[in-house]
Amino acid sequence: MLDQLTMLERELSAKASAVQSEAELESLRADFLARKGGRLSQIMSGVGKLPKEERAEFGRRANETKERIEAEFARAQDRIHNAALQTELARRYDVTFPGIKPRFGSIHILRRTLDDVAAFFRRRGFAIVMGPEVETEYFNFEAMNIPADHPARDAMDTFYLPGGTLLRTHTSPMQVRTLREYPPPVAIVVPGKTFRRDSLDARHAFNFHQFEGLQVDRGITFGHLKGLVGDLCRSLFGKTTRTRFRPSYFQFTEPSAEVDLSCPVCDASGCRTCGGVGWLEMGGSGMVHPHVLRAGGYDPEIYTGWAFGLGIERIAMVRHGIDDIRVFTENDPAVLEQFS
Ligand code: PHE
Repeated sequence: MLDQLTMLERELSAKASAVQSEAELESLRADFLARKGGRLSQIMSGVGKLPKEERAEFGRRANETKERIEAEFARAQDRIHNAALQTELARRYDVTFPGIKPRFGSIHILRRTLDDVAAFFRRRGFAIVMGPEVETEYFNFEAMNIPADHPARDAMDTFYLPGGTLLRTHTSPMQVRTLREYPPPVAIVVPGKTFRRDSLDARHAFNFHQFEGLQVDRGITFGHLKGLVGDLCRSLFGKTTRTRFRPSYFQFTEPSAEVDLSCPVCDASGCRTCGGVGWLEMGGSGMVHPHVLRAGGYDPEIYTGWAFGLGIERIAMVRHGIDDIRVFTENDPAVLEQFS
């Protein structure tokens, strides 16, 4: 039986050095070393037939054989590995062959516009807050000084939901929500989705984005609003842009003003973008109405504030020369890639 061990070892040595692949090596390993039915196991199972005094010696030799066989396998494995590596290294690659260009995603143009606006206000110490898209009639209208029977409610083309809720028609409901939650001074910007039952065309969408600005403290004046909005427009549209405040009317501000931007395409001399008038409407603004301050728990005798609501789509369209609002939601990669 000791001879059998020697023979087995010799045979393995010869076979292992001839093996060329990982798969061959594995089947050889199974053949020799499998616990059940492997060649070595078979020899060892004969230990019972040996006289008692020879068994220990046989066991020792069998273990040594097994270790040597395993070492042989390890060497063969190394050799196969190295050979594969050498083949790979010797391979020639044509580095001039045209590659496959990966397609990168990019940040949506509306999101980027929003980020730029938010960054501007963050630099000035404003907090960015978000509000619910499903609002109550109270915060969307009542608190904004628009009572139930008031025609201004119709003008807002509201999507009503069951249970007295609605899709907010503007970001303004966050004015009162924020005033109720925070003590003065308040300086916030609210970016978000807004909804109106408009029919879709090049300039109208039923789902669009606004950002609300609100600052309330002692001694806040219209001058603060004008200065800040002027800075914002210069930072978004270039140093030479001007802003204009045109008297207007909103229930929740007094006085109220429409914010106009000098057309950055023609520098206010009149072109296709501004419809020949030289100015572009950006949104509404004004001094926060006493009713709104009171609804927010602020005494209008002590505190004053300004607010504005500007359209994100509008800003993105003017900045990038887009003349159709549907571009933002159709998500045609060919179009969006131009702005990435
Ligand atoms: N909420 C108004 C709108 O959607 C805009 C606005 C906001 C006007 C704040 C004045 C003050 O048209």
